[in-house]
Amino acid sequence: MAQKTTISVIKADIGSLAGHHTVHPDCMAAASRVLAEGKKKGIINDFYVTHVGDDLVLIMTHTKGEDNPEVHGLAWEAFKKAAEVAKELGLYAAGQDLLSDAFSGNVRGLGPAAAEMEIEERPSEPIVIFAADKTEPGAFNLPLFRIFADPFNTAGLVIDPRLHMGFTFEVVDVFEDKGVHLNTPEEMYDLLALIGTPSRYVIRRVYRKDDGRIAAVVSVERLNLIAGKYVGKDDPVMIVRAQSGFPALGEVLEPFTFPHLVAGWMRGSHNGPLMPVPVRDARPTRFDGPPRVIALGFQVKNAKLVGPSDLFDDPAFDEARRTANKVADYMRRHGPFMPHRLDPSEMEYTTLPQVLEKLKDRFKPVKDLPKPKIRHSEMLSGEEVHD
Ligand code: F6R
Ligand code: MG
Ligand code: MG
Repeated sequence: MAQKTTISVIKADIGSLAGHHTVHPDCMAAASRVLAEGKKKGIINDFYVTHVGDDLVLIMTHTKGEDNPEVHGLAWEAFKKAAEVAKELGLYAAGQDLLSDAFSGNVRGLGPAAAEMEIEERPSEPIVIFAADKTEPGAFNLPLFRIFADPFNTAGLVIDPRLHMGFTFEVVDVFEDKGVHLNTPEEMYDLLALIGTPSRYVIRRVYRKDDGRIAAVVSVERLNLIAGKYVGKDDPVMIVRAQSGFPALGEVLEPFTFPHLVAGWMRGSHNGPLMPVPVRDARPTRFDGPPRVIALGFQVKNAKLVGPSDLFDDPAFDEARRTANKVADYMRRHGPFMPHRLDPSEMEYTTLPQVLEKLKDRFKPVKDLPKPKIRHSEMLSGEEVHD
């Protein structure tokens, strides 16, 4: 059997320069030194270090499979060293995503987010690594649907016999810790019924239906749920395979011409447009945003990385960026009002319990309002109500 290659993309916010907005070059250098050492030792075959906003992103290739303790240990070491530099320089929130001092073989659940895929390399293997800041894993739901299930985005679904069978989506319920596989096009409406709630139902993996080959994978850690309290954002990373039997590179990038609204802007508590940017512009400064996404294109050859090409560094995405700025203006004018501000259940910062406590004796029964037939909590359960 052909040798298998694993692509591991692991990211963490280990502290940033001048507030939550960009990774210091010395932190990137510290992480690179650790990975270079790991490459020399043969733990990994190749690596590339980048960032999106305040998140340090490690892209690694190796032959050890997913969830490998040595590879995860190496990434953990790289984050630790980068966090040490962040602490020395007094960078902001140094070490924030490294929740535990005791590494036990896997970064999952400790703070960093990981997207990994083991593949049998095709003779030519183009991949795209996406990383987003000031948002959550469900932010990739809409683009993934467009890439793998929307014929108005992906012409190949209609006219390329290798894509015509469709794709299978694994959707995870991040609150209940369970998942379901749905096939498109036949179960497209069921899929949409779930993934339209991206804070709860998150696309984790996509497979080609006819041969079960992996096509895409997203990190689905929800850091705030892991920690049991707010410690940072769940800024996601994603790997997508492109070309010959998978969507073309341009079909993979096309959904990002629409800067859709995602959750996670300012204090993880606001909706804003997802702006596609080159790495040099992945420094969210306006109201800590708007949320950003980068895309790096590589070829994988014999478990080595060739590239990258900074894919959103293209005037073809200028209009999307302009739209994102217009949408950002429009959303910002709502100030503290929903739907710019998130629903109370989704906010990472809130004063609502204290405000309600302070006002509890001043809330009086209202006589001239019709009595509600149902309590608000029952309404949220989604059960049908009959008179
Ligand atoms: C962090 C983020 C920021 C912070 C905000 C407040 O990733 O998205 O919007 O939530 O800057 O940060 P603190 O409370 O640390 O001052
Ligand atoms: Mg941060
Ligand atoms: Mg971040």
